[in-house]
Amino acid sequence: MFKQSPKIYLFANWKMYLDYDESNILAHALSGEVKKFKDAITMAVFPGALAFYPVTQVLSDVKIGTGPQNIYWVDKGGYSGEISAEMYRSAGGKYALVGHSERRHLFKETNHETREKLEAALNAGLIPVLCVGETLKERKDGEAEKVVEIQLRALLDNLKWPAKRELIIAYEPVWAIGTGEACDPGEAEKMHRFIYKAALEFLKVEPVMLYGGSVRPNNVADYLQKPHIRGVLVGGASAKLESWLEIIKSALSLKQ
Ligand code: PGA
Repeated sequence: MFKQSPKIYLFANWKMYLDYDESNILAHALSGEVKKFKDAITMAVFPGALAFYPVTQVLSDVKIGTGPQNIYWVDKGGYSGEISAEMYRSAGGKYALVGHSERRHLFKETNHETREKLEAALNAGLIPVLCVGETLKERKDGEAEKVVEIQLRALLDNLKWPAKRELIIAYEPVWAIGTGEACDPGEAEKMHRFIYKAALEFLKVEPVMLYGGSVRPNNVADYLQKPHIRGVLVGGASAKLESWLEIIKSALSLKQ
């Protein structure tokens, strides 16, 4: 059985949904709830850059890790407007999203840049959360596996994975992100199985795999019950306390 740890991974990508005050308020509210789930769940929050530091301070007190939604791959220098992996690490970051589909598609981030970011995250000591997934057209053309394989190869080929660093991969079909149109859990499981095997082949490291794309309180359990899906990466429904608590509750009910 490959489920390495019995903990469920619930990762919250707040995207650009919350301003500074809203981020801090949500972090404080979350920290007040944490006792109820701390042993059963590995939780991480990806806040916006502006509120990253105060949110990290509040959440690290209750053992919730944080990470940036995006990083730049050079540590320091004349790169106006960018924030490096190393800078986030020095502000208390533990994880980093790498290759989120909004970065790939809205900001035209290439597979090559995604690899640079992955290496920067590893060098800074962060745990990267690698995001892969196909567009609707690619799925309709029967190319989902091929596209995801290319993304994984660009990320992982000839990479030396640091000992004891978790390998976390989120399968996030582009068409399911922020659309309310979640991927059928059986289809998601198929893709997770494919990614699991590919990642093992590239790195000889067992990945922890998350599903992302329109996860809601009413569907989260359907994903978590699948054997290759260890957790979820949630956008919209993680940026509101009520729906995030509902998701946690639903995940915890599977442990009983
Ligand atoms: P969503 O986003 O839950 O709002 O669909 C998921 C993600 O982008 O990680």
